[in-house]
Amino acid sequence: MNFPRLSRRALLRSSAVILAGAALPAWHEAEAADRPAPTTPLSANDRPGILLVGCGGMGSHDLSLAAKFGDVVGLCDLDQTRLAKAASLYPKARTFADFREAMHAPGTHVVINGTPDHWHTLVNLAAVRAGLDIYSEKPLTLTIDEGKRLVKAVRAGKRVLQTGSQQRSDKRFRLACELVRNGRIGRLRHVLTSLPSGQHGGPFASSPVPAGLDWDRWQGQTPTVDYVTQRCHGSFRYWWDYSAGTLTDWGAHHNDIALWGMGLEDSGPVSTHAEALLAPIPGGFSFPSTYRVEYAYANGVTHTCQTVVTEGPAGNVITEPPLPGQMANGVKFTGTDGWIFVSRLKIEASDPEILREPLVRRTVNLAASDNHMGNFFGCIRSRRDPVAHVGIGHRSVSVCHIGAIALRLGRPLKWNPAREEFTGDAEANRWLARAQRAPYDYAHVA
Ligand SMILES: NC(=O)c1ccc[n+]([C@@H]2O[C@H](COP(=O)([O-])OP(=O)(O)OC[C@H]3O[C@@H](n4cnc5c(N)ncnc54)[C@H](O)[C@@H]3O)[C@@H](O)[C@H]2O)c1
Repeated sequence: MNFPRLSRRALLRSSAVILAGAALPAWHEAEAADRPAPTTPLSANDRPGILLVGCGGMGSHDLSLAAKFGDVVGLCDLDQTRLAKAASLYPKARTFADFREAMHAPGTHVVINGTPDHWHTLVNLAAVRAGLDIYSEKPLTLTIDEGKRLVKAVRAGKRVLQTGSQQRSDKRFRLACELVRNGRIGRLRHVLTSLPSGQHGGPFASSPVPAGLDWDRWQGQTPTVDYVTQRCHGSFRYWWDYSAGTLTDWGAHHNDIALWGMGLEDSGPVSTHAEALLAPIPGGFSFPSTYRVEYAYANGVTHTCQTVVTEGPAGNVITEPPLPGQMANGVKFTGTDGWIFVSRLKIEASDPEILREPLVRRTVNLAASDNHMGNFFGCIRSRRDPVAHVGIGHRSVSVCHIGAIALRLGRPLKWNPAREEFTGDAEANRWLARAQRAPYDYAHVA
């Protein structure tokens, strides 16, 4: 499958369009200033007990934010080194190797789930069964089947679940989506989600399992293999077994914004096709580092999700930094009357007036949160849905999973967003779930 490539000249030409400043418009800042501050404890007794499962980089960061709103009562990790490091920061918390035991410790109300993707769902299902509220890192699931089960369980158990898609609580992304949803760029035609490229490397040799790490349990539901450092902490995301590269890692963020801007948060695309731009090295990271996925939606909008790619001197594909004018890691909405590009660093438009003009008459008002963790703790009290509730987390990562399945199969697929299955394609539908290795299957948390 061939996709059109932009030449260097075309890229430079496209950079000549008018760019607005990176700062947020004053009218939008004033609106944010009017909103109440994120929730703070009402009293010394209004501090939920927090358990962190997965004391790695992101889990530890999330916990430092959550600790403003509650008390850290438990820490859980299957790597004793990481558990000990976390315990040194929170000496009053109890420590656990098995999250099922940790969740039933007295005084535990909230779980922060910072495990790798292939453990998210079982930890979240166990938390629902233990009657706890959940802040779960994105991508919410490993498979679409996991997402369907999780949505059902969270709703039936009346739990609050916030997905760790913090761009939902970022003023820039909300502004972009609000403008698009209210017709500021005319009729929406195309969405481009540009993601960082992944790791390309290998082959990797196995080595002895580090002391204190329960490697069998770390692998959980996935097929068992010898220990390889690059499969474990941090870089697990570049392997099919545990994740789907940057397509689910960053895609869970930017494709979430794409759905938000399109107003299709409880739906999804109707067709997709995908292509890897660089084949993985046998014995190395198994998910392609660079790829391009195309989607079409029932309302006629098309969506390209691609790694930030430029052409090297010999025509070979190289990755970041992008050429001037090329859209860096972020989301670009293009409509009949202009475009808006938004990233974690800036918001730009084809005409500065698109951003400058206040949105006076709105038909769509998006849920406003300026503090993702604060929004979660506020919802624990109000029992309302947080800004990135379980349904949103599931549908956003479903877009990524659908693209990943198309990448795996290498042919166009039709998706039915109401039934949440591929149309007329039994092989693709088999990838909605994955075989789970016992004893780390759903029965593990039943
Ligand atoms: N929201 C964001 O911007 C953002 C940024 C980075 C990472 N993340 C997400 O956070 C998650 C963790 O990423 P990371 O980079 O911190 O990974 P990491 O590998 O550094 O940490 C994961 C930790 O979980 C532990 N663990 C694994 N299985 C476990 C289990 N069954 N029980 C208890 N502990 C277990 C590991 O030992 C490890 O300490 C990923 O899903 C990732 O996508 C989100």
